[in-house]
Amino acid sequence: MTIGIDQLGLYTPNYFVDMVKLAQARGDEPDKYTIGIGQDQQAVPPSSQDVVTMGANAANQFMTAEMADKIGLIVLGTETGIDASKAGSLYIQQLLGLNSRSRAIEIKEACYGATAGLMLARDFIASHPGQTALVIASDIARYGLKSSGEVTQGAGAVAMLVTENPRIMTIEPESSYFSEQVMDFWRPVYTDNAIAFGKYSTEQYIHFFETTWADYQAQMGRTLADFKALTFHLPYTKMGLKALRTALPAADDQKQAELLALYQDSIQYSRRIGNIYTGSLYLGLVSLLDLNQTLQAGDRIGLFSYGSGAVGEFFAGELVPGFRSQLHTSDNQAMLDQRVELSVADYERVYSDKVPYAAEDYRSNQEFFAGDFVLTGVVNQQRQYEARIHG
Ligand code: HMG
Repeated sequence: MTIGIDQLGLYTPNYFVDMVKLAQARGDEPDKYTIGIGQDQQAVPPSSQDVVTMGANAANQFMTAEMADKIGLIVLGTETGIDASKAGSLYIQQLLGLNSRSRAIEIKEACYGATAGLMLARDFIASHPGQTALVIASDIARYGLKSSGEVTQGAGAVAMLVTENPRIMTIEPESSYFSEQVMDFWRPVYTDNAIAFGKYSTEQYIHFFETTWADYQAQMGRTLADFKALTFHLPYTKMGLKALRTALPAADDQKQAELLALYQDSIQYSRRIGNIYTGSLYLGLVSLLDLNQTLQAGDRIGLFSYGSGAVGEFFAGELVPGFRSQLHTSDNQAMLDQRVELSVADYERVYSDKVPYAAEDYRSNQEFFAGDFVLTGVVNQQRQYEARIHG
């Protein structure tokens, strides 16, 4: 029996800001944003979208009543959760009408949370044959207006249905993981904005990649030649490239060129959405599968997950026959193409309208409703969610 990803859903809010215009507004060189950092656009989440609604919207891309009934584990991996106690997956369970005979939990470890969820789901299915697991990675990356991290913000969610005999990609049981207490990035509980020692965080990312990749090769006796593509956690698209470049010299010229070409396919959605923290690695996977036409069943894909603080893991999966028929390529591209561009002034306005860190009622701005599931507001300190028909 194999275990892995049977379905992959993607959601990003309906609004974006252009990185050239943001650079101009901040007095920076546009090339720094588009080449130095590697971002073209950035998703802007209105206050009607949070990790619950984005996660529900992502899973709704593939969810059927038959699938909903078999789910025994619902994991939300997020670092921008909406409650310090209650799991956001419980709201998602309700919004999507998922099975109540299930464990619904939330996992936090920065951008690594969804990978922890995926590994938990893998083990769950191995010990509960016949059941399935829904793993949702959903986040809003915020560093603050005019901060150096602003160009690396973003918002979105990726949902994965994990099953026996998956129809997209297996997840191999062998992996290499590494954890260490590091102060490279964190977010105190009183604020929406993350704090990062930017340069230091990029060094830690590379250190964790080199450590897990070296360990994986030693453990498995594999080299780059055993992989069709490597995908990376993408806080911004240049970051994964920096990590890939540390590994490339071990391969011949042809393999290096192939890995670099596939890397380009894996970053195209991130260039338009930005960092979605827990979902960024899986956004890269969706982008690669949607855009690369050379991939075939049997190809092995390497995945490097990094969560600041910090935990890193390198693992792999194999594409299965018929995987393309399970993808939502044209829906994903339409979702990106149909977004509304906000001026920098409107982006700042939307950015500043958010659920307050206070015990007061709040109403989301209806001008910026988007998606099939929305947060309409907060009443008596309880979030109010609504399912609505699109359009
Ligand atoms: P910065 O200091 O403003 O940028 O912040 P910089 O001066 O380092 O420039 C960035 C790059 O642009 C450099 O390239 C410049 O040379 C280049 P590099 O040397 O890195 O290859 N550049 C130009 N290129 C072309 N034309 C130009 C030009 N000017 C400069 N005219 C930083 C950058 C990423 C540090 C900042 O945005 C930041 O702090 N971001 C947030 C932290 C982050 O994303 N860290 C990534 C690793 S940690 C991680 O991945 C975990 C995370 O996702 C959180 C989690 O786990 O939950 C963040």
